[in-house]
Amino acid sequence: MDLPSLLLCILVELLAVNCLDMAEERIVGGYAPVPHSIKYIVSLQTTDRQHICGGTLINKYWVITAAHCNIGVDKMMVVAGDYSLSIYEGTEQEILPQFLVPHPEHDALNNNNDIMLVKLRAPVYLNSYVSIALLPKQGASVAEGRMCRVSGWGYTSSSGGQIPSTLRTVKIPVVSTEKCNSTESFSGTITETMLCAGFSNGGKDACMGDSGGPLVCEGRLYGVVSWGRGCAEAGFPGVYTAVSKYRRWIDETISSYYGRCDNN
Ligand code: ARG
Repeated sequence: MDLPSLLLCILVELLAVNCLDMAEERIVGGYAPVPHSIKYIVSLQTTDRQHICGGTLINKYWVITAAHCNIGVDKMMVVAGDYSLSIYEGTEQEILPQFLVPHPEHDALNNNNDIMLVKLRAPVYLNSYVSIALLPKQGASVAEGRMCRVSGWGYTSSSGGQIPSTLRTVKIPVVSTEKCNSTESFSGTITETMLCAGFSNGGKDACMGDSGGPLVCEGRLYGVVSWGRGCAEAGFPGVYTAVSKYRRWIDETISSYYGRCDNN
């Protein structure tokens, strides 16, 4: 093979892999929940209504999401009470953020401390479409094998195809950090502030567009969708920020802003 064809081959290969990667990003193997039955989830959007990440309401003024979802306070909008992103259902509450508090030690290289708090300018109204999620206690853990629910507006199919505009959800088991860190899996890149969840055969997982969204176990928000290798691949569970390791930081951050009226 001559050099130009070889280069072309490499380019096609790279593009194909990238296309696959992109197509594989979103909740895989899940289903559409009863509309408005998952009331604590929010869609983080750009001010021109492009969905970028999920998030979770933890009280009327605060949302938890991933630090890598930080697009800047001026570009972000929070939508609660949503189900279909493309249809106006009359249940949506669109609220602008007042400020963003990404974790001060967020490391974009190894995805460590991938957590961010979003303070809303106005409180959400809690009603039959919108509610909050409970947080785990500082340091609490969920046992391996316990089933958790991850939800989001991410891609549904590893073969690409359509981007769903309705919410999807799936139940997956917690994987021990030991297994997740084994050489057949993530080879030591999982820190103790991360949590892995997924079936060993793959098939069900979160994906790009689901980032920042909730992983709820035993009725509490134990994980924030953070990263993975592809989506729903056997041997590679999804990796979540372990919320229980940040309970103190969350409480301290929220109380340090309590009663502040500054507009920045
Ligand atoms: N980083 C992705 C996002 O920004 C989420 C990836 C989750 N991947 C996974 N296989 N669970 O939306």
